[in-house]
Amino acid sequence: MRVGLLTGGGDVPGLNAAIRAVVKRGEGEYGHQIIGFRNGWKGVVDGDVQPLGRQQIRNVLPTGGTLLGTARFHPHRNEGGVEAVLATLEAERIDALICVGGDGTLHAASKIAEAGVPVIGIPKTIDNDVWGTDASIGFDTAVTIATEAIDRIHTTAESHNRVMIVEVMGRHAGWIAVTSGIAGGAEIVLAPEEPFDIDKIERFLKHRHRAHASFSIVVVAEGAVPAEGTAMHYETQVGKFGEIVAGAIGERLKVEIEQRTGFDTRVTVLGHVQRGGIPTAADRILGSRFGVAAIDAVTHARSNVMTALRGDKVELLAIEEVAGKVKHVPADLLAVARTLA
Ligand code: F6P
Repeated sequence: MRVGLLTGGGDVPGLNAAIRAVVKRGEGEYGHQIIGFRNGWKGVVDGDVQPLGRQQIRNVLPTGGTLLGTARFHPHRNEGGVEAVLATLEAERIDALICVGGDGTLHAASKIAEAGVPVIGIPKTIDNDVWGTDASIGFDTAVTIATEAIDRIHTTAESHNRVMIVEVMGRHAGWIAVTSGIAGGAEIVLAPEEPFDIDKIERFLKHRHRAHASFSIVVVAEGAVPAEGTAMHYETQVGKFGEIVAGAIGERLKVEIEQRTGFDTRVTVLGHVQRGGIPTAADRILGSRFGVAAIDAVTHARSNVMTALRGDKVELLAIEEVAGKVKHVPADLLAVARTLA
């Protein structure tokens, strides 16, 4: 078989583990040819092909990023995009296509599947918001990095008696904020799932600093917003594609907290540090498991499915069931972050 492989959307640590697993098992055990497409769907549209074999996957397991490159490009949102994808897949005699990506890439995969191409999705995003899977590749590394950052910020917060705001990624779901906030012992965690009340934050900080502490850590997801009808008026800042702008809510909260409490306040926007560098063991293992499951699925003629971690098993879910949905942080996890404040 000739199996196509692409990585789309934002990169994450652990993608190379998935690529390596597809190639090792696909070529080594099944004798398939693995054809990589460079820069996500863009490479399929442009016919930008990179054959993948043992040589290309040597020593990639501990590396971040993606050896195939990636792009935020969706064929179904560009005129002629789907037709161009189909033409390339035919020209390259691709029997099935494995797409590693977040919601956007998987949505595009479902559109290509509708056109008759067997596709297999592998979920990756540091945001952990792909519906149907307990975890996506990259999330564990991002939480590990964010937790270490909070630990480091703790010591400088305490030394200077400051309120330190740490803004982490998460436009639609607050998985990184909530889990790193719990792991790093943040006093306040703000996630898109639970719009906040600035008056409560002010009261909490004043009480804490009066009663027993001289510093506080606030972890905020970039997509967090004030609750409607509360005192802080805030228009979510968006860029030219309608995406939430990094740093905006963190900076705004800094001004608000400083004005209301008089406490010296600083903001750190972690940004792409969360997506870079060496993947954790957990992400290497998840990438490897998903890669093996995807190539096994292709080989056994399963198609239009996504690999998903459910408990301790990797299962296959219908891609159309997953596309377009967001996996939000559940109430019980939000409650843990609140309880430990
Ligand atoms: O989609 C994952 C993500 O890392 C988000 O958390 C973040 O908001 C966004 O990508 C940043 O995108 P870009 O790399 O295009 O700036």
